[in-house]
Amino acid sequence: MNIVIDQDLMIQNGTFHVAVWGCQMNVYDADRIRDLLTAAGYVESREPQNADVIVLITCAVRAKAEDKVFNQLANWRSKGFINENTIIAFGGCVGSELAEEIIKLDKSVNIVFGPRTTHRLPQLIGQYRQTHEAVIDVTADALEKFDALPDQGIRGPSAFITIMEGCSNMCTYCIVPYTRGKEDSRALQDILDEVVTHVANGAKEIHLLGQNVNSYRGLSNEGDIVRFSSLLYEVAAIDGVERIRFTTSNPMEFTDDIIQAIKDLPVIADSIHIPVQSGSDNILSKMRRNYTSDSYRELVAKLREARPNIYISTDIIVGFPNESDEDFEETMRLVNDVEFDQSFSFIYSIRNGTPAASLEDNVSAEVKKQRLYRLQARLEELSNVYSQRMLGTTQRVLVEGLSKKDSRELKARASNNRIVVFEGDPSLIGTMVDVKIEKVMAHTLKAVMI
Ligand code: 5AD
Ligand code: SF4
Repeated sequence: MNIVIDQDLMIQNGTFHVAVWGCQMNVYDADRIRDLLTAAGYVESREPQNADVIVLITCAVRAKAEDKVFNQLANWRSKGFINENTIIAFGGCVGSELAEEIIKLDKSVNIVFGPRTTHRLPQLIGQYRQTHEAVIDVTADALEKFDALPDQGIRGPSAFITIMEGCSNMCTYCIVPYTRGKEDSRALQDILDEVVTHVANGAKEIHLLGQNVNSYRGLSNEGDIVRFSSLLYEVAAIDGVERIRFTTSNPMEFTDDIIQAIKDLPVIADSIHIPVQSGSDNILSKMRRNYTSDSYRELVAKLREARPNIYISTDIIVGFPNESDEDFEETMRLVNDVEFDQSFSFIYSIRNGTPAASLEDNVSAEVKKQRLYRLQARLEELSNVYSQRMLGTTQRVLVEGLSKKDSRELKARASNNRIVVFEGDPSLIGTMVDVKIEKVMAHTLKAVMI
């Protein structure tokens, strides 16, 4: 639909609350919505019960994530946190996936928007306030929002920057190409300007985001195509950037120039997330992943040669339609060969409209659960081994804030992405500190400052 932008609608007031589910790109979108609504005159409310407008940024990757949002709405309603006057704006990937369906599923929703239309939210709210009719707006060019959004607000020691929108890979199980659309890269200069703003605001770590960052192909000021490796060199050259992370990397596009950049640039963190999804070539081909388990092993070997201390994490789907015991054993074999760190695994979730949704499946839910359980136990073991190895080592950590559990402690992040807590003065927040790891706990490490 076309939105008529009435300048009167730009000046608004009231409070808003943002709730976010899903990946880091959704976190980035949520932050940009905070910038946007603040610039439009709204004040953020940390709690939903005080808010005039509630903004939901949702994830459509698995059915479970989607269900959580609707349950949350029902829960707030039952507690009286939202009433007929609360304006509910439903965005994120489920917004573009289900569009008008959402209003039928939950009548309290007033506005539906998508990842590509986040920048129009003040207008959409203004329009709803005038007409009191549901507004649905989920389509726009991929990069339109980046031009329309206000300057980035203050983010803290680590700042996310979305460098590309969408994905064109069309893995057969995945809904992202339908919700976020085809891949489109932001211009180099726009990204570098955003890095400079964050660094001026105190960020030390820049986390580049995209569904598939390795295939970044943005334009330079001269109109040349810039590859992801060149973007890494450019970001690393900016004064004040002390650490770079990037997510997510598709193994298929992990080219030698990117491996060389990782070798050349110590500012790139020691941890890389490379979703493998399965260790079975049969399943990988049905997933349309365009690599084999052996080519993945070779990639890992090259990365470890370039950076011996690299920690590799991954995503794995179990229970893809007709995954056999042998297929699953191949996944376990790959996990043991690569020795993944801090990884994620999920039971396959049917997503309507994707090619895999039409595949028949003869594997029981019980078998899938058992596979997930075995896999997760092994992944956890491997992560613990890495944590144990860190005992007694010195780590350079970026202090992100106060520890949630004990406010006398600071929470920081090591280069390999481990959370480290230690006693220290809050003035250290936002700085890089050297600490010695003294104790390994379930998901954190305890340290002392050196
Ligand atoms: N079912 C289960 N997991 C999925 N993922 C993506 N689509 C699905 C699906 N239909 C997982 C992949 C991806 C991560 C973000 O979510 O492992 O890497
Ligand atoms: Fe989905 Fe595959 Fe694109 Fe990742 S690379 S977002 S799994 S289609």
